[in-house]
Amino acid sequence: MTGPLHWAGLLLLAIALAVLARRAAARLLLSRAKHGSLAGHPRWARRLARWLPAYELEGDDYFGADGAPAEIQHRRRAAFGHLAGLFARRFAATRAATAELRGAIADLEFTSRYLVPFPFSRLVREQLAAGSLLRASAGRQLIDLDGNRCYDLTGSYGVNLFGYNFYKQCIARGSALVAELGPVLGALHPVVAYNLRRLREISGLDSVSFHMSGTEAVMQAVRLARYHTGRRRLVRFCGAYHGWWGDVQPGIGNPQTETDTLTLSEMKATSLRVLETRRDIACVLVNPIQALHPNANAPGDSALVGGPRNAGADDAAYRNWLARLREVCSRRGIVLIFDEVMMGFRCGTGGAQARYGVAADLVTYGKSLGGGLPVGVVCGRAELMRRYRDERPADICFARGTFNAHPYVMGAMHEFLRHLEKPEVQEQLAGADALWDRRAGELNAALAAESLPLRVASLGSVWTLCYPQPSRYHWMLQYYLRAQGLALSWVGTGRLIFSLDYTAEEYAEVQHAILEGARQMQRDGWWWSAPHQAGAQIRRRLLRETAQAWWRACSGSISSPLSR
Ligand SMILES: Cc1ncc(COP(=O)(O)O)c(C=O)c1O
Repeated sequence: MTGPLHWAGLLLLAIALAVLARRAAARLLLSRAKHGSLAGHPRWARRLARWLPAYELEGDDYFGADGAPAEIQHRRRAAFGHLAGLFARRFAATRAATAELRGAIADLEFTSRYLVPFPFSRLVREQLAAGSLLRASAGRQLIDLDGNRCYDLTGSYGVNLFGYNFYKQCIARGSALVAELGPVLGALHPVVAYNLRRLREISGLDSVSFHMSGTEAVMQAVRLARYHTGRRRLVRFCGAYHGWWGDVQPGIGNPQTETDTLTLSEMKATSLRVLETRRDIACVLVNPIQALHPNANAPGDSALVGGPRNAGADDAAYRNWLARLREVCSRRGIVLIFDEVMMGFRCGTGGAQARYGVAADLVTYGKSLGGGLPVGVVCGRAELMRRYRDERPADICFARGTFNAHPYVMGAMHEFLRHLEKPEVQEQLAGADALWDRRAGELNAALAAESLPLRVASLGSVWTLCYPQPSRYHWMLQYYLRAQGLALSWVGTGRLIFSLDYTAEEYAEVQHAILEGARQMQRDGWWWSAPHQAGAQIRRRLLRETAQAWWRACSGSISSPLSR
């Protein structure tokens, strides 16, 4: 080879190696910024989910899945039978009416399957169903078709902040306000002007768009961020829920394999390094409820397969993390989106921005803001909310929806926002977190005093029941609580959401019911554990069961996901 060609070749090789090294370093950094759990690796989680074979535990295996001795199994079996009898009598009409609907309502079919870990699910569905229909709400209580009254700990997915009576009023008064116009869409009812003013004050941002759900608000916020930055990647943090749109829910539950989403560890310096160094990141999404369980999925009882469930908010650390995140995003031109759909007004009038002292570029709201009707809202800085470019008229960012700014929703929202203006309501909101954290502390003290293996972690009025020791049967607690007159949502003990209108007496009854449910669960042997039983033992049993099921599936004795 001649001299100059030789040098040119070497130069090209050096450039190629430098590019490769850069890419490898970026890849390595990204890997280090991922959380070690499966929730931090959505692709792997989805792959594993497709391989996991179905199996059911039966007979002795059902009641002795942790290796408990015969006497304990006997106690559990008797208790299960007792609860089954109680539920059959107490919820007869509600169950019958639900059974008629179940096969044809996909949502009911799905949720009833995922109340508990799948090996235990069939027997629970058959014998411990309480039904999914309700006749009325009255104060803090829900009334089913059999006339049973339960305290509501579902919070209607977080919508119910001020109590059902309040939302009934919002809907009635809001509807009256807009009745003359009725359901006319496209143009706006003048009540929107007030909503706009209040939302701008609350968010501290210039411009607002109205949507029909929290999911849609998040979709629009991300679309705007991409449009204005010209970048494609969105960063979400491990475990954080932002609705069911594909790009914010990579991994299990979403069949789409390719997204532009990076799932990073929350509260980890390496994640900030990724934001510092990459040039393709349009936005970062933050869901403030994650302060309660950073880097973990929303806790649900179907995930209680054996290990403990732990949670706990460190407010100071989270505040510090958000401040650092804000700083990096500002420096790198990344749009910081606070998704306040869930926590928005629950953590005070100013939402998470005020609570943590950090200003976001875009904020999404929803749930309670609709005054009991469906809604999603994006608030943002004027330049980020703009959907067109003066200089490029065809380059737009489209977002329209038939029902956006529906007059009846705007009416109910008006009532909700007016309520927020009242000094006594602001006082109530300002004191709510301290009140509910104190109640959680008192419950924990009572649980500890009786050596019950149950604790509560709280972020104000949102609670997670934690199980400090490993067991395969924690999920049974939801049925004990139901028997005590407490209504939980489909994620069970993972998320209890209180409305702020609980009186002290009512809360005392709820606390009593939780304690009594836990006592009975303990007495009935579900929390039995062998001396020195470690999580590792349970994990080994789980692995063995799974391997056996896998083997059976491969040899064709039961249908496996792979044989489909
Ligand atoms: C933080 C957050 N964002 C978005 C959503 C989606 O809202 P929606 O269910 O109204 O679509 C939720 C719902 O729970 C949420 O908690």
